[in-house]
Amino acid sequence: IPHLSTTSIGRAVRYQRSVPSTQSLAHEWAKEGAQEGSLYLTEEQTAGRGRMGRIWHSPTHSGIWMSLILRPPIPLNQSPQLTLLTSVAITRALRKQTNLPIQIKWPNDLLIHGKKVCGILTELRGEQDQVHYVVQGIGINVNATESVWPEELRPIATSLAIEGGRTFSRPELIGAICGELETLYDGYLSYGFTPIRILWEEYAGMLGQEVTARTGQGSVKGIAKGLAETGALLLETHTGVQTIFSSDIEW
Ligand code: BTN
Repeated sequence: IPHLSTTSIGRAVRYQRSVPSTQSLAHEWAKEGAQEGSLYLTEEQTAGRGRMGRIWHSPTHSGIWMSLILRPPIPLNQSPQLTLLTSVAITRALRKQTNLPIQIKWPNDLLIHGKKVCGILTELRGEQDQVHYVVQGIGINVNATESVWPEELRPIATSLAIEGGRTFSRPELIGAICGELETLYDGYLSYGFTPIRILWEEYAGMLGQEVTARTGQGSVKGIAKGLAETGALLLETHTGVQTIFSSDIEW
């Protein structure tokens, strides 16, 4: 990773040209005691995983497919904050490197002009009061052209190259992401979630708009107001403000 300015994030790296999923390999590495900030990188995933059991298309050389291991000293119920932290870090890095209008869609997608360019999958091991480790899977469509995606993804997916009209260096982007991640993560451990929450609200495309959240218990419609301190989404509905902990959002 070039231009790496960090002391922990991205310092230990494992790389394989092709893997089923970096998530599973990073879990094993974490169990073997991987240090904080360890990064598992690949060119291609044959069984990439998305949220909610979905497939993540990860064609060769066209994106950043990586899993990050963190060991934050936080209770389990604060772990949703980490997904938001990472989305803010990636947004900052990609905006600086590409000048593209990247926006965050709660809880874990990054969009350009309403199409998905990046997804984050946070998985963790721990018990009640303490997270043991977190594996964050990060998938970014960098140099993909539409032809690498199946037909049904083309209306909803995009890449930095499609939007920017040029290709981007993946190692440089990874270096920039590691830098932003370390700054925000160190800040989070020292000062808590509030500074991240404020940045997140600045980058969120959906605030003030009507959204529909599909939760396990049905769907809730409301105006997206912001984030609770836990990282949950606040929706103003006709019956009052509702707190959404996990769901898919449409807007
Ligand atoms: C989502 O939006 O559903 C999350 C997508 C996460 C994809 C990344 S790519 C690297 C890592 N390995 C996986 O199998 N998935 C994550």
